[in-house]
Amino acid sequence: MNILLIGSGGREHALAWKISKSPLLGTLYIAPGNGGMVSLGTQTDLDVSDHQAVISFAQKNDIELVVIGPEAPLVAGLSDDLAADGILSFGPSKAAAQLEGSKGFTKDICRDYNIPTAAYGRFDNAASAKAYIQDHSAPIVIKADGLAAGKGVIMAETNEQALAAIDDCFDGSFGEAGAELVIEEWLHGEEASFFVLTDGETALPLATAQDHKRAYDGDEGPNTGGMGAYSPAPVMTEALIKQTMQEIIEPTVKAMKDKGTPYKGVLYAGLMLTKDGPKLIEYNARFGDPECQVLMTRLASDIVPALKAVANGTLEGVKLNWHDETAITVVMAANGYPGAYEKGSEIKGLETAGAPEDVIIFHAGTKKEGGKTLAIGGRVLNITATGSSVKIAQEKAYNAISKIDWPEGFCRKDIGWRAIKQA
Ligand code: AMP
Ligand code: GLY
Repeated sequence: MNILLIGSGGREHALAWKISKSPLLGTLYIAPGNGGMVSLGTQTDLDVSDHQAVISFAQKNDIELVVIGPEAPLVAGLSDDLAADGILSFGPSKAAAQLEGSKGFTKDICRDYNIPTAAYGRFDNAASAKAYIQDHSAPIVIKADGLAAGKGVIMAETNEQALAAIDDCFDGSFGEAGAELVIEEWLHGEEASFFVLTDGETALPLATAQDHKRAYDGDEGPNTGGMGAYSPAPVMTEALIKQTMQEIIEPTVKAMKDKGTPYKGVLYAGLMLTKDGPKLIEYNARFGDPECQVLMTRLASDIVPALKAVANGTLEGVKLNWHDETAITVVMAANGYPGAYEKGSEIKGLETAGAPEDVIIFHAGTKKEGGKTLAIGGRVLNITATGSSVKIAQEKAYNAISKIDWPEGFCRKDIGWRAIKQA
C-alpha cells in the first residue's frame, strides 16, 4: 500500500523510518519531510493547507492511508476533507482535534466527566479574568485557549505577572488563540507524556515516555517544544498506567463518542503526577516530539496495521510489542532556540556519529543542499540511542553527539537525569 506522511519534524522522520520498515508498504510519500528523510520515501512540496491539492495527490498516487503528523492540519480539518472523498487518514477530525485546539473545550470535558485536572476558569474578557485572580491568587497559570505554537502558557508566580499576562493575551499577543483564556491552578509533581492509540472506541496504551521541556540543564530556562526524551519512563508504574487509563483516557474517549465526534488517532495526555494521583495538564491530538522518536525506536511490531486499524475503527484486539531496551533522544537545537536563531549553518560529522548500530539520528529542521546538511530550524537533530539501561543509552547518545561538528548548535547535557536517579 502507498502511504502519504505529512510533516517535517523529528517526529515525522521517526514515523517515516518506522513506516518504511513495514512489509506492507509500497511507496512512502512525504510532504514535505526534511533533510534526513531523503532515502526513506519520495518527498513532495505539496501545500498541505490546500486540502483539495492533498486529495488530488492522494488520488493520483493511489494513497491508501494519509498519516498526519502535526496538529495544525488536524485542527484545520484535513482528516474530514480526506474522509469526504473516501480517503483514509490517521489523525482525528477537526471536531475531535479540539482536544488540542481549545484548552477550554478540554477543561469542560474534564469537569463533565470527572477527569482529574487543575481547577480552572474560562474567560473571554480581561475584567472577569482579573476578578478571578483576586479570588484565586498566584502562583497561577494563564493559558491562551487556542493553538499558540507552544507559547500560550504563562506560569505566573505573582499576581502582577498574572494580571500582565491577562492584558497581553487580550491585547492580541497570541493572536486569535488568545481571544479566550483559561486560568488554572498551578499543579506540582513530575510530568509524564502518556500516549494511546484510539479508534474512538478502544484505547491502546503505548510505551511510556518523558520529555524535557526546559531549554537548559537542570530544567532551567524557557519552555521549548522538548529538548530530549526517553522511554520507558520508570515513574509510570503499571498501577499509574492503569489509573490513568481508567480516570483520564477512558472517560475522554467516552466523552468524545457521546458528543458524536469520536476521537480517532493518537491521543497524547500531558500528565502531572501529583501526590493525589495523575492529573491531566493538557491533551495533544498528535504524537509528542521528541517522544515519538523514542517510541518508534522501541516499537518492535509493524506500525502500519495499527495506524490502519485506528483509521478503520478496528483497533480492538490489536497488540503492539516493544523492545525491552531503553531509548533516549537528545535534541540538538540552533543556538538561541527557543528565541531567535540563525539559519543556514552546515552540520558535519553526521555519518560517523550515526554509524553505530544502536544510534539513529532523526532530523528535524535540516535540508540537504549540494551534498551538505544545513540547519534551517530551531530544533534540528535528534540523536537517538538504545541500551540495556538509561545510563548506557545516554552514554551512547552523548558519544555520538561528540562526533558532530556543528558550532552553531547546542544540546542539554543531562537528558535522562530523572530516570537515572530512579534506577
Ligand atoms: P501545555 O502547553 O499546556 O502543555 O503547558 C506547557 C507546560 O507548562 C507544561 O508541560 C507544564 O510544564 C506547564 N504547565 C501547564 N499547565 C500547568 C499547570 N496547571 N500546573 C503546572 N504546570 C503547568
Ligand atoms: N514534546 C512535547 C510536545 O510534543 O508537545
